[in-house]
Amino acid sequence: MLAHFVLSLLGSSLLAQGAVLNHKQQPRDTTDAAAQWAPQGCWSDNRHNRTLAALGDAGTNVTNVKCQSRCAGYRYAGTEYSGECYCGDYLNSITSPLSDLACYMTCTGDDTETCGGPNALSLYWDGQAAPASTPISVNAGVDGWTSQGCYTDQVGSRTLSNGVATPRGASSLTVQLCVDTCGSAGYTLAGVEYSGECYCGNSTSTGAVAEDQSACNMPCYGNGSEYCGGANAINLYSFAIAPPANTSTSASSATATPTATQSTSATPTMVTSGLPDGYTYQGCWADLTNGRILSVQQPDSATLTPASCVSTCYTAGYSYAGVEWSKQCFCGKAIVNGGYQAVSSYALQNCHVACTGDTTQGCGGSRLMALYYSNATTSS
Ligand SMILES: *[C@@H]1O[C@H](CO)[C@@H](O)[C@H](O)[C@H]1NC(C)=O
Ligand SMILES: *[C@@H]1O[C@H](CO)[C@@H](O)[C@H](O)[C@H]1NC(C)=O
Ligand SMILES: *[C@@H]1O[C@H](CO)[C@@H](O)[C@H](O)[C@H]1NC(C)=O
Ligand SMILES: *[C@@H]1O[C@H](CO)[C@@H](O)[C@H](O)[C@H]1NC(C)=O
Ligand SMILES: *[C@@H]1O[C@H](CO)[C@@H](O)[C@H](O)[C@H]1NC(C)=O
Ligand SMILES: *[C@@H]1O[C@H](CO)[C@@H](O)[C@H](O)[C@H]1NC(C)=O
Repeated sequence: MLAHFVLSLLGSSLLAQGAVLNHKQQPRDTTDAAAQWAPQGCWSDNRHNRTLAALGDAGTNVTNVKCQSRCAGYRYAGTEYSGECYCGDYLNSITSPLSDLACYMTCTGDDTETCGGPNALSLYWDGQAAPASTPISVNAGVDGWTSQGCYTDQVGSRTLSNGVATPRGASSLTVQLCVDTCGSAGYTLAGVEYSGECYCGNSTSTGAVAEDQSACNMPCYGNGSEYCGGANAINLYSFAIAPPANTSTSASSATATPTATQSTSATPTMVTSGLPDGYTYQGCWADLTNGRILSVQQPDSATLTPASCVSTCYTAGYSYAGVEWSKQCFCGKAIVNGGYQAVSSYALQNCHVACTGDTTQGCGGSRLMALYYSNATTSS
């Protein structure tokens, strides 16, 4: 609230001072390097919530002028901690003005001028009105890759083990550049993190767990309209190789791939037939991409199986039932929130973690729901 208030004050004072203001919407103009960059003082910043969303990448000898020319086309440029440069059309909502004393560090490229301080940004404005803001969203998938949501990540134990360089560097990172880089290196999983990092792998580390998308709250340096993970949080993508599991027959053939037969008899198997009340297996579905895909969650159960879940849903009059993450059971009359069947090899390999009620049976996975349907309840 305070930050909003301060920002609107700043905005109106900028408007009042601005010599040439253009209120019309314009496509980004990258030729205005000669813009009059005006100092706006010292502003707070932190690594979890960057005040300016784009990385300026001004090289090793940073000066304010160099950063501004890197930020040509953006409304704001800012230098920090002697050698960092950030650009953006907006300040984030939680920054606040600091005393000039907080921006005390000399620039790496000129020791007669200051380039911010620790968590403090020397801010400049190019004098033009900011364009209308675009909402940031999760890129649902591109080039055959599908979003698997947001996962935890740790420096000591990477969710995907191979950090890779993407074309034109961190400051240009987009989801598409990352998945294409991982795809051309032969990997089936890719992930973007901390605005500018790209990781590849064929499997996730054991410690990785699904997290709420709000932990993946950082825009990509190369595309401010989409998320590229967060601090210790990775937006994960998988490449779709397997065909859709359209029937119980094809679903059971999917679980019979070599990966499922390598280990001992304890490997849980997807239950695709023999269920009560007319329920049939509908494949593995992505959950939580835009919210829960079945609307009624039953209490977690220490004795869950697909059969127990479908019976619960049947008794309550729901035609859809879904099991997820060992112990969760969901019911619904329809699939909601844009639910879709997950067909990637990643999904098929990770959709049958052991049920709490029977470790030989599969009960979905993290954000992956094994879905069942019966038309026997449609009259209720
Ligand atoms: C700032 O970062 C924290 C931690 O990642 C996050 O919970 C919070 O929502 C962020 N705030 C904003 C305004 O982005
Ligand atoms: C940075 O400055 C140093 C010292 O002045 C100089 O030797 C070096 O070539 C400069 N590097 C670049 C990339 O300009
Ligand atoms: C930027 O992100 C949006 C949202 O994900 C996407 O539609 C668009 O294609 C992306 N642009 C580029 C150049 O990657
Ligand atoms: C990843 O998996 C794919 C498909 O199974 C395989 O072709 C590729 O060699 C693997 N890549 C690495 C680096 O293990
Ligand atoms: C389901 O998939 C299998 C193998 O991919 C295919 O042969 C079959 O025709 C499909 N069935 C339906 C109903 O689409
Ligand atoms: C329910 O599904 C079965 C099997 O697909 C079908 O034979 C039956 O006619 C269906 N009943 C209704 C009421 O749709």
